Amino acid sequence: MSAEPVRLYEESNDNLPWLPLPEKGWREFRILPPEKTFLKTFEDLPFDQYAPHCQRYRRFSQFKMSCFANSWMPALLPHRPFIQSAEYNQHSGGILREFEPLKCNIEPYVDEVFSMLKIDPDRFYHLDVHQYRVCATPGAEGISVPEGPHRDGQQYVVVLVFRRHQITGAECRLYDPKTGQPFYKIMLEENEGIVLDDEKLLHNATNIKTAGGQDGHRDYLVLNINEWEKRRYGEAFECAMSDTMFSSILD
Ligand SMILES: [Fe+2]
Repeated sequence: MSAEPVRLYEESNDNLPWLPLPEKGWREFRILPPEKTFLKTFEDLPFDQYAPHCQRYRRFSQFKMSCFANSWMPALLPHRPFIQSAEYNQHSGGILREFEPLKCNIEPYVDEVFSMLKIDPDRFYHLDVHQYRVCATPGAEGISVPEGPHRDGQQYVVVLVFRRHQITGAECRLYDPKTGQPFYKIMLEENEGIVLDDEKLLHNATNIKTAGGQDGHRDYLVLNINEWEKRRYGEAFECAMSDTMFSSILD
């Protein structure tokens, strides 16, 4: 396996959203161009105080997903802090992070993504949605992923890119979890997305640089999807994830 990732052009942007996720563990796809009102909600995202060096802004909400008449509908869950296992996130795992809830309407996008996954319509699923703007300035790169190559500790991870304004970089890279070697890279352009089987792959994104010496930014959503029985939600889950931080300190 090459240390340098290689883009497999024949697999990119095949615009076939109604096929199940391939055995290889990822699929790229096009997404609906967003309404102006949707794009506007990226403009007042609060600063991410948990990653102050990243120039990152974000909101976050959680949903219970169910399917009625072939449409996947999100039901907003009571707002709670976000927490990941320290096993998967060395940067801020095990820490309860408080983010403001989403203001944008995610319904068209989550219906599209859930339909693409071909998951069981008779089951419920848990969905986390993270809305991000990462900025780059002439003096500082924007950092989308401070933890480097990682899993999110979910069943599926989805990245949806809506705007790349005066930037270069933010290239998505996939890694073999056994060797840690990168084997695939893709630049997600505006209105493109990728779904990952998080149990099969590590992922990362390169830093964002300005293009032309002016301030720039990337606007995107990240979705985390799990069967409802394996949901990352609630007090018991938060306690279990907090414990992972203490065990990683003791290790
Ligand atoms: Fe991630």
